[in-house]
Amino acid sequence: MPLFGTSRRTALLVAAVAGVTVAAGVALAGTAEAAGTLGASAAQSGRYFGAAIAAGKLGDATYTGILNREFNAVTPENEMKWDATEPSQGRFTYTNGDRILNQGISMGAKVRGHALLWYQQEPGWAQSMSGTALRSAMMNHVTQVATHYQGKIYAWDVVNEAFADGGSGARRDSNLQRTGNDWIEAAFRAARAADPNAKLCYNDYNTDGVNAKSTGVYNMVRDFKSRGVPIDCVGFQSHLGTGLPGDYQSNLQRFADLGVDVQITELDVAQGGNQANIYAGVTRACMAVSRCTGITVWGIRDSDSWRTGENPLLFDNSGNKKAAYTSVLNALNAGGGTTSPSPSTSTPPVPTGACSATVSLNSWNGGFVATVRVTAGSAGVNGWAVGLTLPSGSAVTSTWSATNSGSTGTVSFRNVDYNGTLAAGAATEFGFQGTGTGPTATPTCSAGS
Ligand code: G3I
Repeated sequence: MPLFGTSRRTALLVAAVAGVTVAAGVALAGTAEAAGTLGASAAQSGRYFGAAIAAGKLGDATYTGILNREFNAVTPENEMKWDATEPSQGRFTYTNGDRILNQGISMGAKVRGHALLWYQQEPGWAQSMSGTALRSAMMNHVTQVATHYQGKIYAWDVVNEAFADGGSGARRDSNLQRTGNDWIEAAFRAARAADPNAKLCYNDYNTDGVNAKSTGVYNMVRDFKSRGVPIDCVGFQSHLGTGLPGDYQSNLQRFADLGVDVQITELDVAQGGNQANIYAGVTRACMAVSRCTGITVWGIRDSDSWRTGENPLLFDNSGNKKAAYTSVLNALNAGGGTTSPSPSTSTPPVPTGACSATVSLNSWNGGFVATVRVTAGSAGVNGWAVGLTLPSGSAVTSTWSATNSGSTGTVSFRNVDYNGTLAAGAATEFGFQGTGTGPTATPTCSAGS
């Protein structure tokens, strides 16, 4: 259960009225024409504005009316979690997850997948597992669910809430963590193998300012980027109380500077005197960070929220727009930088030959995922080929972003049409999954396809 970076108080009527006044005073300052809904306004800068939704509420006309009108992204509140999708080991149930997916598709919305691995809402059978049996079950779960939704999900919360609260900056203890510290990168590699086009996110709460916990996550992301672990984004849940950390924007920016997108993934704010202002502050921060690609609120009406009695959302119980809604819309319409990926801060050395390749492996009992990074030499390349030797008994079972000839022994991988041309020093990645154990020798790399 999340804690909150700032104290949460019960709503005060006088404070709510003050919120209305504040919101009414926000002026439109943008250059783009003001849009009338959250999604349309966010789209003007290439962003999305989403809501967590529940399959059981899709028959409620007020609910779906607001959803269809206002939002251009959806997240299943519970329907894609482990207990929902694999209630008994190896038996996968996607009925409600698919209802959320199809609702998103029908709206032309992005669908955020939430969440492949989380220490909460583990099915009972997994809660009682440990060690290599649990690790295999975890990886199988990631692979199966990401494969089921392959090509349909904009971004997956691959791992949710794996860091401890308080000042340690360390991982949270859980049966997942006890399978080995590499469980998070193993999950990301398995997710990439299953759905190469989904953005892969780490998602957590109480990481909304610069603090020990967010710095722990930051250090993990920096490490992942330096080692080629496939991570694309970090989700900041932003379950907020009556204050917004002063370094909220700079915290987002420091993660973006690592070369990942950032997303506000579960926004809700206690209805104290500052609710409208805090919502506006979060929105302005995202708009100011070019790699902040969108905002999701954790529910539609106050009555839909998990925070019973705190009225933390943008619509009241009857579906009317609140002051916080107006403040968010105004902040979106005020504009900001468009979302364009900023260049990675790390500049790897240019190989002396035509190209070079490195491989990073994530292995488990009986299988592995290999991520191979190909870097062009000083002349650049127009097509590349990478050779790797697998140990006896091992075999390639699937490959992405490359084609392979052969699947055992010495296997040759060639570029596909979109990643063959690399300027001097530029790099691309491909990957493959296999049975047995992965390659140990340094790969060869040659130019020409
Ligand atoms: O569907 C069952 C229903 O059949 C049963 O009668 C009822 C009895 O308790 O429970 C219902 O399931 C509940 C489910 O929500 C659907 O309403 C679960 O008990 C309840 O635990 C579950 O709560 C969800 C919570 O995650 C679980 O920890 C909340 O809806 C959901 O909003 C919340 O979302 C999390 C994010 O995933 C991660 N970040 C924090 C966020 C808030 O806690």
